[in-house]
Amino acid sequence: MEPYRIKVVEPIPFTTRQQREEALRRVNYNLFDLRAEEVTIDLLTDSGTGALSAAQQAAGMAGDESYSGSRSFYRFHEVVTELTGYRHILPAHQGRAAERVLFSTLLEPGKLALSNTHFDTTRANVELAGAEARDLPCPEAKDIDSPSPFKGNIDIDELRRILTGPEGHRVAMVVTTITNNGGGGQPVSMENIKQTSALCRAHGVPFFLDAARFAENAWLVTRNEWGYQDRTPRQVAEEAFRLADGCVMSAKKDGIVHIGGFIGLNDGELAQRCELLLIATEGFATYGGLAGRDLDMMAQGLTEVTEPSYLAERAEIASYLAHRVHAAGVDILEPPGMHALYLNAGRLLPHIPPHNYPGHALAVQLYLVGGIRSAELGSLYLGEEDEAGNPTKSAPYELVRLALPRRVYTRSHYDHVGETLAVIAKHAGSVQGFRITEQSPILRHFRATLEPV
Ligand code: F0G
Repeated sequence: MEPYRIKVVEPIPFTTRQQREEALRRVNYNLFDLRAEEVTIDLLTDSGTGALSAAQQAAGMAGDESYSGSRSFYRFHEVVTELTGYRHILPAHQGRAAERVLFSTLLEPGKLALSNTHFDTTRANVELAGAEARDLPCPEAKDIDSPSPFKGNIDIDELRRILTGPEGHRVAMVVTTITNNGGGGQPVSMENIKQTSALCRAHGVPFFLDAARFAENAWLVTRNEWGYQDRTPRQVAEEAFRLADGCVMSAKKDGIVHIGGFIGLNDGELAQRCELLLIATEGFATYGGLAGRDLDMMAQGLTEVTEPSYLAERAEIASYLAHRVHAAGVDILEPPGMHALYLNAGRLLPHIPPHNYPGHALAVQLYLVGGIRSAELGSLYLGEEDEAGNPTKSAPYELVRLALPRRVYTRSHYDHVGETLAVIAKHAGSVQGFRITEQSPILRHFRATLEPV
């Protein structure tokens, strides 16, 4: 059961099917353009959407808003130092700000960044620094039906091959994303982190964690990795951070705050250069674009997030929803992770070709039938067409992500998601695909307009 009870509530909106049809037409079938008050269950993201605890709110009230050297900073600094062990900690307003500051300091044109999978903003910040971002997912990741427990791993053989090969001198950093959000929210094993760490040290390449979901990764390690069953998630997380040379962190996930992030580094010289950029573009080094109260709430959230009872319930509710989804006759990327489920829309809607966006069609149905908002991760997100609209590239899988905000929705909300999917699955054959009517040159899924075909 949930290891907490509800003290503050917020009403959720209910709409009629006719209102949802009108809303969809108004936003040209782009779900990002819906007003949140038109959405009943919002599973667009688990980022910044969690519920604060009473202790976090109390910590926020005690926040010290001094411009420099605030008490809040020192509390935050102490908590993050104990958790990660890094010698230098710089606050940032969210994950992508931490990425921008670190990557633009470390990378330059011609350099190569390697990762199990770069998250969108991580890739964008590598590319903005003029470097190349290359993903090296492990071979098991390609089979989305395999229940293999650590499909988030980096491909160690490929990493070794690149580091020892002719491109080795170009590699400026390796980033392991835990859990691997771009790779279906799958965890990374400690063995894989250890091997990556050893390879990077042997080749003098800095190794960082993109630690947005470090606690969820640690929980799955305690469940599934040999030798870690008797460890606490906190112990696993501490060990993981210490295997890397630093981290970038979006605290909007496993910091359970609405805004916040940080950079952790061991290299003093690198930290000094990052600090100067941080001061110029984010804020002074003791607040990094955040208010004192944000730092206090983040410190408290980072302490709560590794509590076994919290993590056990989070894993439990994800598998509860996975069960409901399976019962509705819909497949997911296996095994279910913790922060999200990825529905296999391509398999549910085989009559819709990739360039008519089966994932988007399913996301639209989830809203139309159940007022549920989700995110397409298929050919609308990853595909490309030529000028005439003929497809030139489609996504490897047509997926829809149901992200689970922390401590927000209960089992009856997720029952509604399961029931909605069962209704959709029953008339799957009649679900229509879409055509893009207008799109932007980059990140088109955010701004594209569409119409049914
Ligand atoms: N790294 C990972 C693995 C992420 O999932 C995200 C954000 C970021 C970095 C960037 O952090 O949003 O604080 O700037 N992921 C969100 C999502 C947006 O919905 O998955 P941010």
